[in-house]
Amino acid sequence: MSDTVGKPIDRVDGRLKVTGGAKYSAEFDIKNMLYGVAVTSNVTKGRIKNINTSIAEKSPGVVGVMTYKNSMQLHSPSSSDPGGGKFAEKDLMPLQNDRIFYDGQIIAVVMAETFEQAEHAATLVKVDYQTEDPIFDLEKNIEKAYKPASASTGSETQVSRGNADDALKTASLKVEQTYTTPVYHHNAMEPHATIALWQGETVMFYDSTQSVAGTKSLMSSMLGVPKEKVRVISYFIGGGFGSKGFSWPNTVLTAMAAKLVNRPVKLVLSRQQMFTTAGRRSQTIQKVSLGADQSGKLSAIKHDNTVESSFVDEFVETAGVATSMIYSSPNVDVSHKLVRLNKVTPCPMRAPGEAPGMYALEVAMDELAYQSKIDPVQLRLVNYAEEEEQKHKKFSSKYLRDCYQKGADLIGWSKRNQQPASMKEGKYLVGYGMATATYPANRSASSAKAVLFADGHAEIMCATQDIGTGTYTIMTQTAADALGLPIEKVIVKLGDSEFPKGANSGGSQVTASVGPAIRAASLGAISKLVTMAVADPKSPLHGQKEVDVTSQNGRIFLAAKPDQGESYTQILSRNNLQKIEAQAITKVSTRQQTEANPAAGGTPEKEIEDESKTNQAVQLDEKLDRKPFSFHSFGAHFVKVLVDPDLGTVRVDKAVAVMDIGTVMNEKTAKNQIMGGMIFGIGMALMEETNYDPNRGRPVTKDLANYLVPVNADMPDFQVEFINKADNIISPIGARGIGEIGITGITAAVNNAIYHATGKRIRELPVTPDKLL
Ligand code: MOS
Repeated sequence: MSDTVGKPIDRVDGRLKVTGGAKYSAEFDIKNMLYGVAVTSNVTKGRIKNINTSIAEKSPGVVGVMTYKNSMQLHSPSSSDPGGGKFAEKDLMPLQNDRIFYDGQIIAVVMAETFEQAEHAATLVKVDYQTEDPIFDLEKNIEKAYKPASASTGSETQVSRGNADDALKTASLKVEQTYTTPVYHHNAMEPHATIALWQGETVMFYDSTQSVAGTKSLMSSMLGVPKEKVRVISYFIGGGFGSKGFSWPNTVLTAMAAKLVNRPVKLVLSRQQMFTTAGRRSQTIQKVSLGADQSGKLSAIKHDNTVESSFVDEFVETAGVATSMIYSSPNVDVSHKLVRLNKVTPCPMRAPGEAPGMYALEVAMDELAYQSKIDPVQLRLVNYAEEEEQKHKKFSSKYLRDCYQKGADLIGWSKRNQQPASMKEGKYLVGYGMATATYPANRSASSAKAVLFADGHAEIMCATQDIGTGTYTIMTQTAADALGLPIEKVIVKLGDSEFPKGANSGGSQVTASVGPAIRAASLGAISKLVTMAVADPKSPLHGQKEVDVTSQNGRIFLAAKPDQGESYTQILSRNNLQKIEAQAITKVSTRQQTEANPAAGGTPEKEIEDESKTNQAVQLDEKLDRKPFSFHSFGAHFVKVLVDPDLGTVRVDKAVAVMDIGTVMNEKTAKNQIMGGMIFGIGMALMEETNYDPNRGRPVTKDLANYLVPVNADMPDFQVEFINKADNIISPIGARGIGEIGITGITAAVNNAIYHATGKRIRELPVTPDKLL
């Protein structure tokens, strides 16, 4: 039945996107709509002594100015709904009082007839502050670090086995180094954008969000409006990378503003505001200690992380999250400590934890390789983890050895001379580096609906969303194969909270969570059709056993006798039915679903649950006991860099990634995803960094002119390959998510290549030219 899955088909929404036909949240034209502009604090800590809005209110076109004095009262978001989305800063409900916890905190929203009028009036809001001394420097406040009990991502923060300290004392080879990463900002191309529209007690949102279902639930509890009266739409999203996973003040403020002036309001954050009020990745200070014998076999791994949170919520960048599972070692100790700072709360950013953490661990492994004079690939093979040693579980599937082998062949690893600074091309120093990539394979509860129409086309509905990753496309492929229809006959509808609840676009979980639900709903619709046909005296399949009937190309027929059958259209028309539909929910979860871990999933929809009990695909899927397994994807990055010895500039010349991600759903979108992650990781290695004013703790890199991201001219020759072996344990579609794994390890591979080229080990990211001279 697998006809289109795997094929590198173009994005089904590609034409809409390149022609401007795809409507993003800010692009809906709502009658009578006002433009909102946020006013932000320009002090880092304190109180608003006085906020004077009278001049702004008199400015042309202004309809209202909302501050903590006239805004509606919000409810603290309910924590009892596991599918409820998460408000990013639980102790800072927007515009509820006069307190300031960080620079850039939203303190007012101006509403006007035009955007320009609102933007001008926002400059006329006068604020007197009573300032207090802020704390904003992680290194200077390290003594304030404390151990958090848990991480909101559901990852454990303190993990150990054996006794790493003792083992380190007796190890014959040792690496003990500190690695640092700066603050990063997501910088999705589309800013955070919301339109809110009240109709009586009902509120409707167009919101750029990684979770329409979560945002619906969250807005319901914060605004005190019943869930069935909240609708969230997000048809197209210009990237999120984690910054639109939790909800930031802009979304709820738009609804509050619309309520205040009784008109629809649109609020779009400026690029500058995205640096202060919509999350970031925490700075990290990571101490990694490795102990090994002369053969390179690890006896101890220790990974102590100090990261930051804010004063209004606790978020842990779990940089040590992969450390206990990636290599075999009897003794492991991973810890995380937090320092609270007067800055916006950090949040998940592409591979939260693994992106900075695998950088530090994989550079430390490289240091061990040079110290022990063992080839870096060989060192990884010596320490290959055959099982998940921390949890004593088998991996659902793992082909990491194949990734190393294939990657090494593709980059020409055997040509490399391990001696640092020994290879040249013209005036450039040449370096080769490699590192391991890994990310958990998450799956959570998801539901979907499939509708087969008498005209021969089908529609799929699911309240998940496509954040730019290709979800529309691969779900169309998944449904087409399950329905036995060509992809042109299948329309996948996502991004509307009215549809059956699907997974959040976070934690690389959509493909493995939503795919099986869409497949089951599609198979459920076909099965209803078969039941109808075998009972229908006018059908050529009348009286046949259902199990003997199969489907393809819009027909159901006897598997053993393909000529005996009829088209979907024939059965439905003869029975005077315009359509037949089925719903399914699959409740498999590969990770702990907790209150604090909304990313883990969705709550089952009641009516679907009943139907799912009789759905064979759901039954088979849920019957498999997954408890003995640990679910992860793996990969290997190999890069070649050219370093200019006079200027200290680094050019990544070639980057090879070989990924073991289960079944590849679409070779084209999959390569795009991995390449996107690699570009992100090259940015981390060489240029990305948010700088703060050392006197006041305000970000000074607040636009894409100062916050450097890699551009086309910085790009290497990419080669992305897949092992493409199905993971039959995670789900019947065999695929694991790939949104995040691409960024993991690549930063270390670049760093290791720079060391190979120059003999200089730079442990403080980014590796800018000044550090190499
Ligand atoms: Mo992802 S950083 O879990 O949206």
